[in-house]
This record gives sequence, C-alpha cells and structure tokens, in this order.
Amino acid sequence: MSATTSTPIHPVLSNRRSPRSFDATATISNEALVAILEAARWAPSANNFQPWRFHVGVRGDEVFDSILSTLVPFNQSWANRASALVLVSIVNQNEDGTPRPISGFDAGLAVSQLTFEAHSRDQVAHQMAGFDAEKAAQTFELPTQIAPIVVIAIGTQGPAEQLEGVLLERENAPRQRKELSEIVLAGLPN
Ligand SMILES: Cc1cc2nc3c(=O)[nH]c(=O)nc-3n(C[C@H](O)[C@H](O)[C@H](O)COP(=O)(O)O)c2cc1C
Repeated sequence: MSATTSTPIHPVLSNRRSPRSFDATATISNEALVAILEAARWAPSANNFQPWRFHVGVRGDEVFDSILSTLVPFNQSWANRASALVLVSIVNQNEDGTPRPISGFDAGLAVSQLTFEAHSRDQVAHQMAGFDAEKAAQTFELPTQIAPIVVIAIGTQGPAEQLEGVLLERENAPRQRKELSEIVLAGLPN
C-alpha cells in the first residue's frame, strides 16, 4: 500500500515500507545482494570516512543464524523468514582515538541507500534496533571502536496472512507520518 503523501514524490519512496511478512521460500541472488551493498557503499559521509561495516548472512548459513540469535524474540518471530540479515556496525572513533559522533548519521544514509536499492529490485528491507548489540559484538569479535547499530532483514514480501495477532494488524495498517507542518519548524512553503 502506497503512502498518502501531501504531494507526489518518487514512487520508490512512497511505495517503500517495512513489512514483516517475508516469504520463507524466497532466496536472494548474489547479484542483488551485492548491488544492495554497493548502493550502501556509495552513500555520502562526513570527510568521506565511510564508517559503515556490514556482516551479511543468507538464510541457512551460519552468519544468518548468528545475527538472528541477537534479535529480540519479537523480531526473531518474523525475521527468520527473511532471505538475508545484515548487521550494520559503525566505526565510532577517528584514527587518533577521539570519538566520532557523526558515524551513526553516516551509517543511516548508507542504510537508506541500501533500503531503496532493495525496494527498487522488488525486495523489501526492514530495519531493526531490537537486537542485543553487545552479543553481536561478541559473536563477531568486533574491536571496541566498531559498534553494532542496527540489523536489516531483506527479502521477498509474502502474504500478510501468514502473520498473526499484532503482527498481522501492523502489516495491514496504513503507513502514518506527522504532518509536514509539525516537522518543518520554519519556512514551509504554502
Ligand atoms: C532504526 C530503526 C529501528 C527499527 N527497529 C525495529 C524493530 O526492532 N522491530 C520492528 O519490527 N521494526 C523496527 N523498525 C521499523 C519501524 O517501526 C518502521 O520503519 C516504522 O514504523 C515506519 O514504518 P514504514 O517503514 O513501513 O514506513 C525500525 C526502523 C528503524 C529506522
């Protein structure tokens, strides 16, 4: 279901959504997965620092199972049907060891590009903050300056009816946003 926008925007933006009804029989091609990661690679970043790092698991492999095991039970219950799970981490320090608070912003841009590339290829992507970042860091033996920030489920959307209860309700609910007038604090054109 497309978003009801106040004015037309690019269809890949209005049609994108974060479904939970993944098709557990679908697989993702290596070509599509590489293209999705390539899209992330070309995101802009402060000083071109490119602080994003990815662990990529494909359903059935060890990396997928490891990432899945870090998700909170609610997310595990639907993300286990995704074709791929991507753990996104950030390099949160500069080379001299000083903190780099802008890294999360940079990684958000990379994930945004990844998401739209996925949707433009008839895949869907659903981001999750509901995971155990400490467990993920331990599992993948990350050094202290690399911090897990989000997990993304990528795959083919399946029928909503395979979900139950609150998951089914959310799947069929219209997408909602604050009004532009609530988020543009000054200068919104008439
Ligand atoms: C950083 C981030 C973390 C999120 N974490 C979760 C999550 O843990 N579980 C979940 O089901 N959805 C999660 N979502 C999905 C949001 O709930 C969803 O994007 C939001 O409701 C808007 O829906 P839409 O993407 O379909 O427009 C997350 C989204 C983002 C961007």
